[in-house]
Amino acid sequence: MSWIGDKFQQETKYDPNRMPGHRLIWDAKPALYKEYPEAEKIELTQFRPVEQMSLDGVLKWRKSIRDFRQDPISKDQLSYLLWASTGIQRIEQGYEFRTAPSAGALYPIETYLIINNAAGIEQGVYHYSVKARCLEQLKQGDLRQEITRAALNQQMCATAAVVFIWSAVFERCKWKYGQRAYRYIYLDAGHIAENLALAAVSLDLGSCEIGALYDEQVNAILSIDGKEESIICMAVVGSPA
Ligand SMILES: Cc1cc2nc3c(=O)[nH]c(=O)nc-3n(C[C@H](O)[C@H](O)[C@H](O)COP(=O)(O)O)c2cc1C
Repeated sequence: MSWIGDKFQQETKYDPNRMPGHRLIWDAKPALYKEYPEAEKIELTQFRPVEQMSLDGVLKWRKSIRDFRQDPISKDQLSYLLWASTGIQRIEQGYEFRTAPSAGALYPIETYLIINNAAGIEQGVYHYSVKARCLEQLKQGDLRQEITRAALNQQMCATAAVVFIWSAVFERCKWKYGQRAYRYIYLDAGHIAENLALAAVSLDLGSCEIGALYDEQVNAILSIDGKEESIICMAVVGSPA
């Protein structure tokens, strides 16, 4: 039992005889939204597909796509993918709930994009502001080589129109769940990733999730510290070849 993963699995179990005593300190509740007030904002659209594919159809068609045509993704498509993966879906009692479930509705996952080929949006690194429903530009330029290298040379990062990158702000979830939060954080990211995969199919796009990556190289691209906030996983999206 010396491996960290095995130890983690054992030590974060809930046991009726040994529940962690944890008192919520409301004044210390972390902010649920990350914002880049200085960044240039790119408005997103409210696009929803008119011809909705059935859930059954989407489930039958979803598969990992790694070869892409060099078609740009449209702003409508991008807007829909962002909303469908983790956008605000409803407000209840003043609280904003999103399209993907999240343990305790704490939403620890942040979404970043590397845009390679999008109509009307320049190449670069962007943060999805869930609250303001816009993109915030963090870096300009062609990141295809850098992100491909960071993904163990998986070429789909260069040929896809866009790379979705999901990080976690750990304290948002640890505030309530302590070390068990790490279980929930990975589950939260999985829900978002699957929402994206299904939404992509509904737009006749293809996607592939990516877990094989050099964490610190991706963190450096996003300018996040890898401790308070760190990469969890990514997905590429584009028109299937
Ligand atoms: C957490 C996770 C990480 C993955 N990482 C990669 C990856 O780094 N590279 C890759 O080509 N596929 C990756 N995949 C895709 C799987 O290989 C793929 O889902 C699996 O082979 C099943 O095929 P399907 O998605 O076409 O049904 C990943 C999938 C998941 C869920």
